[in-house]
Amino acid sequence: MVLTLMINGDPVPYHGDPRRSLLEVLRDDLHLTGAKDVCGEGFCGACIVQIDGVPKVSCLLPVGRLAGAEITTIEGVSNSETLTAVQKAFLEYDVVQCGMCFPGMVLSMTHFMAENPSPTRAELKSAMTGNICRCTGYERIIDALLSLGSNGLGPVEEVRP
Ligand code: FES
Ligand code: FES
Repeated sequence: MVLTLMINGDPVPYHGDPRRSLLEVLRDDLHLTGAKDVCGEGFCGACIVQIDGVPKVSCLLPVGRLAGAEITTIEGVSNSETLTAVQKAFLEYDVVQCGMCFPGMVLSMTHFMAENPSPTRAELKSAMTGNICRCTGYERIIDALLSLGSNGLGPVEEVRP
C-alpha cells in the first residue's frame, strides 16, 4: 500500500503494510523515537501522539487508517530551543524521572489544558488516567499543571536566549 502521512506538518510517503501500527512506523522507519513502546496494548499512554489534535495511542493505530490525518509527535511540539508551557512547568516542578511516560503525558495534557485552561485537581487526576507514570507520582505532575493556572497553556516559551 502507498499512502502519504502528514507528520509534524511534513508529508511522508509510506509504502508498506497498512496494518502496521503507527508507533512501529514512527520509531522503526522514521526514527521518531519520542513516542515510547511500553505496554503495546493501549493502556499505558507512553505511545500517545495527536491525530488531528486529539491524543491517541499509536501502538493500536493501523497506519493505513491515517491517510490525510495530521499526526503530531512530541518532536513536533517543540525543538531543542523551545518548550511548551506544559513542558516548562514539568521541568520547573522537577517531575521527570525516567521520562518514558512524558512524551505521551505532554501530548495528552497539552490537549487537555487547551480545552480546560483552569482545571481543578480532581479534573486533572481524571484526565491523567490514560497516562501511567511508574516513577514520579502524580501529585507533583498535577501541581505543575495547576501552576499554569488561568493562563492555560500560555505561549511557547524560549528556553535559550
Ligand atoms: S505502548 Fe501504547 S498504550 Fe502503552
Ligand atoms: S517518569 Fe518514569 S514512567 Fe513517568
